[in-house]
Amino acid sequence: MAAVGRAVANPHSTDLCVLEDRKMSKPGALDLASGLGGKIEKKEVLSAVEKYEKYHVCYGGDEEERKANYTDMVNKYYDLVTSFYEFGWGQSFHFAPRWKGESLQESIKRHEHFLALQLGLKQGQKVLDVGCGIGGPLREISRFSSTSITGLNNNEYQISRGTYLHALGASQELNRIAGVDKTCNFVKADFMKMPFSDNSFDAIYAIEATCHAPDALGCYKEIYRVLKPGQCFAAYEWCMTDSFDPNNQEHQKIKAEIELGDGLPDIRLTRQCLEALKLAGFEVSSVFLNFLQVIWENDLTVDSPIPWYLPLDKSHFSLSSFRLTALGRFITKNMVKALEFVRLAPEGSQRVQSFLEKAAEGLVEGGRKEIFTPMYFFLARKPHSGSAAEAL
Ligand SMILES: C[S@@+](CC[C@H](N)C(=O)[O-])C[C@H]1O[C@@H](n2cnc3c(N)ncnc32)[C@H](O)[C@@H]1O
Repeated sequence: MAAVGRAVANPHSTDLCVLEDRKMSKPGALDLASGLGGKIEKKEVLSAVEKYEKYHVCYGGDEEERKANYTDMVNKYYDLVTSFYEFGWGQSFHFAPRWKGESLQESIKRHEHFLALQLGLKQGQKVLDVGCGIGGPLREISRFSSTSITGLNNNEYQISRGTYLHALGASQELNRIAGVDKTCNFVKADFMKMPFSDNSFDAIYAIEATCHAPDALGCYKEIYRVLKPGQCFAAYEWCMTDSFDPNNQEHQKIKAEIELGDGLPDIRLTRQCLEALKLAGFEVSSVFLNFLQVIWENDLTVDSPIPWYLPLDKSHFSLSSFRLTALGRFITKNMVKALEFVRLAPEGSQRVQSFLEKAAEGLVEGGRKEIFTPMYFFLARKPHSGSAAEAL
């Protein structure tokens, strides 16, 4: 406390920086245990896990059920897994293409900067982050581009993580620490029915989030509605690629493992997303302005010098992303088992760890076989006037 007192007296002191760096760093084992279950009552965690698993094919569930109950399914998923995500990934919950010599964290930040660059973000613009998690990308992109970003998320627990450190009684704590609390905020709402007026935002992006939508067209139409005419929407989508064969049982198993381990109703093909964007009214085919391609789409895994799934691959070892490696996950598994045994983690915690392990296996296999991508990128534009969406 003495350190906090001194730091407050001098807001630029090293003490404050150390304290705040600690708040921004990855949580420890006890944070993992105490956050497990999110907004779900601790004694209800096991039954929430059972209900969540029942939505999925591996446990007899079906696609229509997941789509009809997407809010319950996705919110249960994020309540159960967010503390694991924070423990393993930090504050940004997404993959990235990676260059040789680049650390995982560097590649994640570059992937966020790439979106800002593609959207051509300019100082003072009003931007929407669709499905913002606990706000890691939002803070990075806002600082990188000097824009005001609203993070939209339907999971109350994640928003409370974005506002963190209740012990200090502060709201928007992570945004404050990052210095963006005056310009960025969070809104709890469903991206299928957004609480914003038409033509509100100068730019919109979504990072590995709209894959949770029960219907891509419905989601893209909402994004189209709230985007200003002439402005752009960019995203990284989770998709099955053209190499996916729906009649191949191994492919089906991989898809089902990813859906179970990642809270997804149904993973769409890249071309289905492209089609939905067009139907929503967006321009997505190549558009050139002064010989520069301003509108484009591509699977970014194709040109990644280091495979995006490497951090989860059993054959890979890294000290800097140790918690994601097979050994790190094995240690986490046993730690969660012990924490559950001594009742520091709720009953059901090991079950969450094991469906996340399934996800890791499915993702690595999906990546290796090139039947799945977490970074189908597109930069789409809402035309100035006359749109397909209006015609629908
Ligand atoms: C894999 S996380 C990605 C989070 C963030 N974009 C990042 O990269 O750190 C997907 C996010 O989408 C949010 N989400 C899923 N379905 C949603 C919905 N219907 N409306 C709003 N947010 C949703 C989840 O709560 C979660 O925060």
